[in-house]
Amino acid sequence: MRTLALALLVTLAACQPPGPTYHQDLKPLLDARCVNCHVSGGIAPFALDTWEAAVAKAPAIADAVQSGRMPPWHAGPADVTYLRNPSLTDAQKATVAAWALSTVEGDAKKPGAALPPLGGGVDHVDRSLQMAEPYTPQTSPDDYRCFVVRWPETTTKYITGVNAVPGVPTQVHHIALYVIPPEAAMFPVAWDAEDALPGYSCFGGPFGNRPQQFAVNVLTAWIPGYQGTTFPRGGGIQIDPGAMVVMQMHYNVQGAASPQADQTQMQFTLADTVERRLAYQPMLDVAWVAGQMKIPAAQPDVVHQYLADPRSFFTTLGSPLDTSNGFNLEAVMFHMHTLGKHGELWLEKADRRRIKILDIPAWDFHWQNEYQLAEPVRFEPGDKLRVKCTFDNSAANAVETNWGENSTEEMCVANILSSQ
Ligand code: HEC
Repeated sequence: MRTLALALLVTLAACQPPGPTYHQDLKPLLDARCVNCHVSGGIAPFALDTWEAAVAKAPAIADAVQSGRMPPWHAGPADVTYLRNPSLTDAQKATVAAWALSTVEGDAKKPGAALPPLGGGVDHVDRSLQMAEPYTPQTSPDDYRCFVVRWPETTTKYITGVNAVPGVPTQVHHIALYVIPPEAAMFPVAWDAEDALPGYSCFGGPFGNRPQQFAVNVLTAWIPGYQGTTFPRGGGIQIDPGAMVVMQMHYNVQGAASPQADQTQMQFTLADTVERRLAYQPMLDVAWVAGQMKIPAAQPDVVHQYLADPRSFFTTLGSPLDTSNGFNLEAVMFHMHTLGKHGELWLEKADRRRIKILDIPAWDFHWQNEYQLAEPVRFEPGDKLRVKCTFDNSAANAVETNWGENSTEEMCVANILSSQ
């Protein structure tokens, strides 16, 4: 009887699918979704590129993956899907959870299949530009510095792909690139000359602590793990001779023994003509800029929202697109400062349908990235866009604040990559 029971157990065990192992199941996941940051010298605080390293962090990995904290991706569910969403599927999360309990190594000679790549990056580089001089971060932990680079092309071009290559990746937290049109090029040049160091101090954007005095065009944002952008569907952003590129660097040197000199590079893919012209256009309420975005102290849920057809505003800002028949939403880059808590962008159709384009339920100032839509969404005449920002100003030392460029002030902008 005992022999029979034992035989039954052995048979059962043989029928059980083997549990996940590091080499067959976990490593392909970590390689595809974690190791770009979790590698020695990378932006993340520890490496995850060996079995020993993964075993040492097994419970933390399971927890971070289960909760969705890792890999970092801040867009919540919406009525659209995004390109290059690195989030793990429920089945992948379950594999990680099961492996974290056993931490079985498996056979290195039988590696599991690699995950399909997320894509991204530029396919070739036509023009590289670099900060004119190296710069060593001066303030710790954070230094926000803008560098001005003259655009060297002598004919009008379209930027179809862009990348940033930080000089010292471990001390760069994020980079935002802006195009300053030729007619405003003298402003950043003058700001650059205000002190002896390269560049000028700036926090929320290319203006530093000055009031916004002309329209700027966002180009892209680099965050850790970013491989560069090829604009979707054959599109490009126009750039004219005489323009300036402003590179806003957020250095974070926390934990560094001593800050190192950085000379970040930008790479561009260019074309003379494009299938569709693209432009980043800001959706915001001009009344906010005029001081009507009051955020009282001691309030955890201050909402500012704006519902409008933004096309006349786009035209006022000198949009290169003819949006009289509507436009396509291709990508969104949301912008708030550190009191930001929740950011939303909705398309409200003339027929009362509401389409959630972007929802960032737990805004994190340090992870501002662009969300490219898998399919463009059409804004038609009669439709409206709603941008909605919720701020938390309940910290013990909070003071009332309002719209502004300083770190103690706030913003609420949905930058929309649009095409005609
Ligand atoms: C884009 C870069 C990036 C990617 C990709 C990434 N991480 Fe991280 N990870 C970080 C950074 C930066 C930190 C430290 C700061 C923080 O906690 O946000 C971190 C912290 C962690 C932590 C400790 C803190 C916590 O929240 O539990 C764990 C565990 C972790 N990562 C696991 C993973 C795993 C597993 C993956 C892949 C599924 C992954 N990470 C992908 C950048 C990344």
